[in-house]
Amino acid sequence: MNPSKTALEIVHHLPPHYLERTLREDVRAGLSKPAKTLPPKWFYDQRGSELFEQITQLQEYFPTRAERSILEDHAWEMAAASPAETLIELGSGSSRKTPLLLDALKDAGDLRSYVAVDVSDSALTEANSGLSRAYPDLILQAVAADFESQLQLLPKDGRRMVAFLGGTIGNLEPDPRAQFLTQVRELLGQEGGSLLLGTGLVQPPEILIPAYDDPSGVTADFNRNVLRVLNAELGADFDVEAFEHVAVWNAAKEWIEMRLRATRAMQVQVPGAGLEISFDWGEDLRTEISAKFRREGIVAELEAARLTVVGQWTDADERYAMTLAEPS
Ligand code: SAH
Ligand code: TRP
Repeated sequence: MNPSKTALEIVHHLPPHYLERTLREDVRAGLSKPAKTLPPKWFYDQRGSELFEQITQLQEYFPTRAERSILEDHAWEMAAASPAETLIELGSGSSRKTPLLLDALKDAGDLRSYVAVDVSDSALTEANSGLSRAYPDLILQAVAADFESQLQLLPKDGRRMVAFLGGTIGNLEPDPRAQFLTQVRELLGQEGGSLLLGTGLVQPPEILIPAYDDPSGVTADFNRNVLRVLNAELGADFDVEAFEHVAVWNAAKEWIEMRLRATRAMQVQVPGAGLEISFDWGEDLRTEISAKFRREGIVAELEAARLTVVGQWTDADERYAMTLAEPS
């Protein structure tokens, strides 16, 4: 196999009409109930993926920098504890931090391939073309798949490390999160694989809120992008600018809630979902949660999914944790 040739191919595992069909179902389920919600995976069309990349560069957005610093200091320990042949990264996005892990795993000995898994085609293409130049000897695969429902399609042979970075696990609510971890555990099987999990830690709202509501408005633009996706894919007629970005710290649940607030009463047509939706003035549509964790809580959630923690690292400011776990 010629790795530089396979590098640019995207293996499509998303079911046919995934965008239209699944988006339509999610929109019907989320927008026709009294407290409106949308699942976060729909932010990430090409523009959404680019806007997220801009978020990661904001001074206020600590998760990316914190995770990078942990990898800089400790990736070699992670690799030594789990010298994988294959690195599978879920929700890989731009794969910008991944080289730190790839280099450590190469040094540790056995790394042969990297599998990037994301719902965003544009992010996969972009990321893998960069990596194929930097890692001509690695077999690179880009898989367009949904990590909540399609983990069974991923490679099952050899020693694998599954990396789930960026705090994306916090975008799942507790029940789906537990199910997700159980599926990762099943993917790992008995062959000595591991899960490397990145999580934002609970901190004062003065730190958390600006990370999700920056003064330059990039995050607001990113949040509103989900409405543009509905306009483009389902022929909806959202007046995108009529929604205000709101980030709220829910202290009881220990998560940030991202909402879009209607700045006037509106009727919105969503022909692709066969819906007409009304918004009251000031009504919120919840587009995402971003849960923050405590170190013991992470250990407990992993244990509940029969994963045993073998290492945990934080950045100097204790804003972020990376946890390495193996099947119990
Ligand atoms: N890991 C990167 C990107 C985090 S942003 C980082 O740390 O910076 C979250 C990424 O997960 C996006 O690229 C998005 O397209 C992807 N994503 C979100 N929901 C997904 C799902 N259900 N299945 C697969 N990928 C998903
Ligand atoms: N996975 C990111 C996080 O939880 C996603 C994100 C960052 C996000 N900023 C956002 C989602 C703003 C919606 C709005 O940190």
